[in-house]
Formats: sequence, structure tokens, C-alpha cells
Amino acid sequence: MAMAFIPSLPSSSFLAILFIFSPYYLAYCASSGNDPHGAFLKCLYRNSTTAGSISQVTYDQTNYMYSSLLDLSIQNLRFQTPNAPKPLVIVTPVAVDQAQAVVRCSRESGLQVRVRSGGHDYEGLSYLSGVPFVILDLLNLRKITVNVENATAWVESGSTAGELYYRIGEKSNSLGFPAGVCPTVGVGGLFSGGGYGMIMRKYGLSADNIIDARIIDADGKLHDRESMGEDLFWAIRGGGGNTFGVVVSWRISLVPVPETVTVSTVLRTLDQNATALVHRWQYIAANQFPDELTMRITLQSLDGTDGNRTMQAYFQTLYLGRTDDLLAVISSSFPELGLTREDCTEMSWVNSTLYFAGLSGQPLEALMNRSSNAKIYFKNKSDYVKEPISEAALEEIWKWFSRAEQGALVMILNPYGGRMGEISESVIPFPHRAGNLYKIQHITAWTDGSAEVSAMRVSLMTQFYQFMGAYVSKSPRSAYVNYRDLDIGKNGDSGKTSYQHASEWGKKYFHGNFDRLVKVKTAVDPTNFFRNEQSIPPLPLP
Ligand code: FDA
Repeated sequence: MAMAFIPSLPSSSFLAILFIFSPYYLAYCASSGNDPHGAFLKCLYRNSTTAGSISQVTYDQTNYMYSSLLDLSIQNLRFQTPNAPKPLVIVTPVAVDQAQAVVRCSRESGLQVRVRSGGHDYEGLSYLSGVPFVILDLLNLRKITVNVENATAWVESGSTAGELYYRIGEKSNSLGFPAGVCPTVGVGGLFSGGGYGMIMRKYGLSADNIIDARIIDADGKLHDRESMGEDLFWAIRGGGGNTFGVVVSWRISLVPVPETVTVSTVLRTLDQNATALVHRWQYIAANQFPDELTMRITLQSLDGTDGNRTMQAYFQTLYLGRTDDLLAVISSSFPELGLTREDCTEMSWVNSTLYFAGLSGQPLEALMNRSSNAKIYFKNKSDYVKEPISEAALEEIWKWFSRAEQGALVMILNPYGGRMGEISESVIPFPHRAGNLYKIQHITAWTDGSAEVSAMRVSLMTQFYQFMGAYVSKSPRSAYVNYRDLDIGKNGDSGKTSYQHASEWGKKYFHGNFDRLVKVKTAVDPTNFFRNEQSIPPLPLP
């Protein structure tokens, strides 16, 4: 069991006193059917078999640690405001039976539950709700057990990708796992929506490498793969979080990585032929490079030396092999890039996860830091590209970079192909496979929290997304569920919706798999207990 996270933990005797005089205790004694908050707490203490300690990880709005705990993992500052809806209670279980009690008691007392693992949801759905709700925050459930002999691991959902990488690296230099680029992302949400990273072209998504899981259903019962059945096991590997239950842990297959990999980052400006390079990259990054090579591009604006704004492109590469081999591949398939030996660095795979997280030079322990990512205001969207965009069209896109203020627009182009193109669209709910050249993440991020700046940036993103429609996938205009975007459609405020209405956004995320997700949801959670603004709806009961 990982150490429980309890902010500024008072001594246990002080805690006991605090508890006896605390509002929980009073609520516990005084709760009635008309008081969902009190009823919830009463039920919680009655249901948890480790009741002695659940009070220590239960925080309501009167608790002095409530606000810091609520804000702790919020990544998008747009939703960390005094007016944002707040949970009645936050519970951070240290044992699975406590999480089960939260589910049972939320249901019994008519409260909605929002599950939070790493808090990175782009729209804040793990900690916001329009109806009275409880946050089940899994940050204390983050045990990771790596088994090198059979190349598997059990990972609790409250772990971050960085913690997983660190634990793998601690045990082996020749095993890895395809998960996110940012180490602070929670495994709970990441795996639930797919989870891509720098070795996706070789090994697919995180969700493609899950072989078992433990999930709490809407009745508070715990299941493993065998008892949940193959339909539900299919749905939780990419069908989105907070829909089918609370996944408390995942068993994953680790993948072989060479003891030495090569990384590089090269910057090319428009004067250095960036347009032609990006154009050419579209033809080779998915379809010609070997699966061992992932080259992604980050496009952003900067002030040029002539005073005008310009666009610059960072080509970031991970090669599962040595520099000599990488240079040979690049010189035969992408010589225009001009990659040199000096641009390349050899390191272990686990060190490469630090490198791509922007933590180069820091000790591996930095992967364990849940707060290493700077918190900002942002509005992001995603697109898939199936046909290369022409050079003329790229130049039109760059005009947006020169109009917007410096840094206001960023695009990250992530190549597909390789293993991603070999896995069928319906093996798991994540459908974006063969035929995709790359995924775009459109980003606008800012640090001034004023309403004017927020409105301006959100509007910029809306207009840019509209403009990009001509160049990306259509019917549906596909999107990645883990880049949650409520603009593409959402359920009612309380999370209730019809099949037809939810299809609007659901088919963009899941294509034909949406219908199977609805069937699974109808079978496992017909009353729609687990819901949010983009959860899969059940069909109405006959
Ligand atoms: P959070 O706790 O907010 O949960 C996200 C959703 O899943 C919510 O709906 C929540 O209720 C639900 N959920 C969480 N835990 C659950 C559980 N145990 N059981 C059931 N439901 C659960 N993605 C990617 O694929 N590759 C990447 O490299 C990155 N990088 C990245 C960087 C940064 C800075 C951000 C903010 C985001 C990313 N992402 C990403 C996107 C990320 O995959 C996505 O936001 C995940 O849903 C985040 O998972 P968390 O557990 O952190 O979020």
C-alpha cells in the first residue's frame, strides 16, 4: 500500500479529537433522509470495514484541508474558481473497501459520484458537477507491483504515468510501457480513454496492453476480468472514465525496450524550410518510418527578428535503438531534416520519459512528483488527419500563428501508423487506427485568469477549430476522448441524455463502437449511476 496522502496530517490522537468534534461526526449522528450529506457520512462509517481510518480520509467543506485537497490535482485553472461547483465531500480511500463504501453510500443517499485519479480532465469532469456530488479521489490508491519475470504489473488507478515509469525503471532497463508523455497524468483516466505516448507506433496504446482490471460496479461490488465479463472488460479499455464503474487497478503487459534508446529535438523556422519539412513529414512519419521511430512535431509562434511573428516547428524523436541506426533511417527517408549526430542523445528508455516530459537533467525521482507540471488555463481540441495537408494550406494555417499573440496557438502533430494501423478498430472502444496519418492536438494556454482573456482564448480556439475543419477527418470529425471537449456535444447538466443526443459526441470519439458501449452500459449500469456530461448513456428500460 502506498503512503496515504493526507495534507499536513495531524497526529492520530489529535485526529481522533478532531473527528469527534468535527461536522462529520455531528452529521453522522444527526443525519436524516432529507440530508444527503449527513446520510452519506452515516452510511460511509457504517459500510466501511476499515471504518476506523475512513474518517481520516473524509473531508467536507468545513474541514481545513478541504480546499487544498480539492485544488491539489486540478490541472486546468479555468475550473479552479470560487464559483465552480464544489463537492459536498471528498473521500481519498486508502483501501478498496473504502472506495466501495463511497459508491454504495453516494447511491443510497442520492449523491452523484465523480471519480478522480490524476485530475487532468480537460473539462474538469472529475471534480465538477451541476448536482450535489462527492469526489472519490483515488490518489492514495497508487500501489504498483512490477513482475519482471513475466513482464506484467498491477497498477492502482491513483498512480501517475510517471510513477509507473519510475517503478518499471527501478526493476528493469529492458522493459517499458506505452503510456502518456506527461508524467503527472493519472493512470485511472489515461487508461480509461486509451493513453498514447512516444512508443505507441511500436506497441499501441496503454489500453491495448491491459490484461486484467479490478472494477467497482454501481452496486459497490468488486470484480476482476473473469467476474466482470469480456463485454465490460472491453468497454473500460478506452470507453472513457466515470461511465461503467470505478476501476481501482489494472494489470498490464510490459513491453521490451532496448537498454539504449536515442532522443533528439530539432527546431526549424520558416526561414529554415519548416513548411516543406512539415509537408514531407506527413508522408513518412506514419507510413515509412519503422515502428521503432516516433517523430512528433510541435508548432508554435514566436516573435521573429524582423519584428513580425513567425511559426517554428520542433521535431522531437524517440528511436528505440542507437544513434547510428537512427541517422541511417533519417538520411535515407528524411534527409531534408538535416538531423546530425550532435542533435542526438543516447539514454535508457526510462530517462527518455523524463526527456519528453521536459525534465531532462533531473533525477529519475522527478517522475514521482505529482506536481511537476505547471498549472495553467487552457482550452484544447483534437483532430485526426487522413490526407496530407498541402503546402499552400499549411501556409494558410501559419497565418493564424502570426495573427495570434506569441504562444497563443500550439499544435502538436502525433504520427500514427505502425502498430496503431494493425489493430482493428473494434478490438477496444478506441477506434482511430488504420488510415490515420496523425492526430493533432490544438492547444491554447494562458496564465492571466481574467474573464476577458479566457473568453478571447476560448473564442480563438473555436474559430481556429472551425477553420481546420477543411483539412481533417470528416463524417465524423473524429476526436480523442481523453482530450475531452464539451463543445462537440454533451449530456444534460445532470449527465442524463438520450442515445440520439449522445451519439453526436459519442460517434466522434468511438465511431461504430459507440453502439456497443451503449449496450454494455445498459447491461451494467441501467440506472445510469455513473454519469457525467460525456458518459455513455444506457438505453431506456422497456
Ligand atoms: P481525471 O482524474 O480528471 O479523470 C479523467 C476522467 O476519467 C474523468 O471523467 C474521471 O471521472 C474518470 N476517471 C478517473 N479515474 C477513474 C477510474 N479509476 N475509474 C473510472 N473513471 C475514472 N493523454 C494521453 O493519452 N497522452 C498524453 O501524453 C497526455 N498528456 C497530457 C498532459 C496534460 C498536461 C494533460 C492535462 C492531459 C494529458 N493527456 C494525455 C490527457 C489525459 O489522458 C486525460 O486528461 C486523462 O483523462 C487524465 O486522467 P486523470 O486520471 O489524470 O484525470
